[in-house]
Amino acid sequence: MSKQEVRVRVPDLMARKAAGQKIAMMTAYDATMARLLDRAGIDVILVGDSLGMVILGHETTLPVTMDAMVHHTGAVCRGARRALVVADMPFLSYQTGVDAAVRNAGRLLQEGGAAAVKIEGGRGMAEVVSRLVEVGIPVMGHVGLTPQSVHQLGGFRRVGASDGEQRRILDDARALELAGAFAVVLECIPAAVAQRVTAELAIPTIGIGAGPHCDGQVLVSYDAFGLFDEFVPPFVKQYADLGSAIVRATGEYIADVREGRFPAPSKPSNKVAG
Ligand code: KIV
Repeated sequence: MSKQEVRVRVPDLMARKAAGQKIAMMTAYDATMARLLDRAGIDVILVGDSLGMVILGHETTLPVTMDAMVHHTGAVCRGARRALVVADMPFLSYQTGVDAAVRNAGRLLQEGGAAAVKIEGGRGMAEVVSRLVEVGIPVMGHVGLTPQSVHQLGGFRRVGASDGEQRRILDDARALELAGAFAVVLECIPAAVAQRVTAELAIPTIGIGAGPHCDGQVLVSYDAFGLFDEFVPPFVKQYADLGSAIVRATGEYIADVREGRFPAPSKPSNKVAG
């Protein structure tokens, strides 16, 4: 690893916040994407359970299993040399009790190679967060729109319009910090609420659809690169249109095969080995 490739570590994120440096985080689910994001200099790679939707074709993140998360986390860790890799804990891998949470989070570090885990929820998850941190597993929290609660929320919707919801977001974020979380994702909440949480917490906030005042931002890579168009949240900025490029390139390949342009006719000098 060269000097430029010094691994980003959990305490570095807090130092970034203290120094006023923004944190860039993106999701990846395989080694190739992880290698590309890493090469570009991303700070944190999240192996999101969004893989249930963008990779596995489910309508929600709920069907994602621990085995799938371990499998994809391993792939991402093999591709990422510099970025901090955080793995999502999937639905029911931590909500059923502290012991199950420790065992499952441990798998993501031990078998997958992640440096930290992310869990959804606030005050109700404080005991789990605190135990994970106690046994040496760094935890990133996630409040606001928590996709594993999609049915409870009544859809993938913005959270924090009412005073009650705003208070809950703030209390949840405070509880996560108190429990020992090293950062917290704020998803789909009003910018003013994210600004207040960011100002109150010593740990960094990472926003997605939460305005510009967070300490960092996260995007689902498949959204940002135009690879997943089933549902694109309105806050997403599309940095590339790889989906169209792939469709165009595939069309050219099909035409080449059908019209005999690929493979190119072999030259007479070519010898068949053996
Ligand atoms: O699973 C995921 O990709 C996430 C991000 C949206 C933060 O949790």
